[in-house]
Amino acid sequence: MPDQTDQNRFLQGPFAPVEEEITAFDLPVTGLVPAGLNGRYLRNGPNPLGLEDPAYHFSEGHWFLGPGMVHGVRLRDGKAEWYRNRWVRSRALVEAMDEKWPAGPVHNDMDFAANTHIIAHAGRYLATVEAGPLPYELSGELDTLGPCDFSGTLPGGFAAHTKLDHATGDLHAIAYFWAWDHVQHVIVGPGGTVRSTTGIPVTDGPMMHDFALTSRYLVLLDLPVTFSMDAVSAGLKLPYTWNPAHPARVGLLPRNDPSAVVRWFEVAPCWVFHTLNAYDDGGRVVVDLIRYDRMYDVATLTGPGPLTLDRWIIDPAAGNVAQQRLDDRPQEFPRADDRLTGQPHRYGYSAVIAAVGHATLSPGGDFADEAFSNALLKHDLTAGTVQAHEFGKDATAGEAVFAPAAPGAAEDDGYVMAFIHNPDRGAADLVILAAQDFTAEPVARVHLPARIPLGFHGSWVPDQ
Ligand SMILES: [Fe+2]
Repeated sequence: MPDQTDQNRFLQGPFAPVEEEITAFDLPVTGLVPAGLNGRYLRNGPNPLGLEDPAYHFSEGHWFLGPGMVHGVRLRDGKAEWYRNRWVRSRALVEAMDEKWPAGPVHNDMDFAANTHIIAHAGRYLATVEAGPLPYELSGELDTLGPCDFSGTLPGGFAAHTKLDHATGDLHAIAYFWAWDHVQHVIVGPGGTVRSTTGIPVTDGPMMHDFALTSRYLVLLDLPVTFSMDAVSAGLKLPYTWNPAHPARVGLLPRNDPSAVVRWFEVAPCWVFHTLNAYDDGGRVVVDLIRYDRMYDVATLTGPGPLTLDRWIIDPAAGNVAQQRLDDRPQEFPRADDRLTGQPHRYGYSAVIAAVGHATLSPGGDFADEAFSNALLKHDLTAGTVQAHEFGKDATAGEAVFAPAAPGAAEDDGYVMAFIHNPDRGAADLVILAAQDFTAEPVARVHLPARIPLGFHGSWVPDQ
């Protein structure tokens, strides 16, 4: 029998799932964990339940479809108190694990171990995913509490990416679901219940992985990746494909007028998974994002590249979108200081991840050698400069998250943290960089007891 893992790039190397849940206390540290960092760094990502997982077919298993596993590190008083990794326990997963499901609501029979992001809101830790399923609520020790429909107030599914408006405490999301003729703007209030849902008409069932928020607008990305019944018939596990007939457009929904409708602006066909942030600039709207040039096939995770950090300036008065290239290194997972969501930002952080470049850009694609290094990038978007903290060829980098040095600290006054594979130990480190001394040695490397597979998104959740 052939080695089935050979057939799937997302079960190999840095993507390969781990097979056990670990709890470790008093973790060894090189350097010093800053005493002001009290909280949890949490990160979600797909982790099939071992290579025998019948729910994850080898040749068709899509990176986006493995059940979620959350990895967390607890920092307090200058110590790394614990590391835990836990599967998000969907019904199918607990049945395979011979455990009892913590029952709860399910949207449209789409129960799924949310694998894309982990956030904290209104006292809940929520593992999130898009395209129909509900989030799962976890405890502070990463045990699954059950699916969450916000105390019965969410009428459909939820979203992987959310934006917290720090002025109001409202959590915004764009939920999409293939059977809807609209996408749904959901606002979860600071008390943890949904206070409004607004349908926004769309055609073809577009994938909307992320969006952006400004003080005045919700910014929607309606791009040519849409639900495909043909792909379902063909047995594609992720039935969202490049659709050249679907116009590419970016939309502005005024936030403070309940009767307002979206105004759409045409853009050249492209794909965007992630925005870095957005803000109002006079009458215009500035959106920084990672843009995949031309077609990108989400169903197979292949495309010509490059993927670059771009700035879109939407001008409602002129009715157009100006596009600028901010950085042409192939990068992903853009993040800003979360406290500035929707407000002007000067700095952004992103990751250059060799394995992701290898696995998701077509061989022979138009991208530079930098695609195959591992680095975290710090962008100074005012000065127009970029600093790279290089980790080396075998040190797989993950998404970088900014943690302020203190609650009132200025933008960039704090730390940038990420899980980075340490090839010398064959295990991951939580690497903490001083944001204002970005290329210096990390202020701390927390040595974790296990490898962490390449995953998606996470959050720094400071203690309240
Ligand atoms: Fe994402």
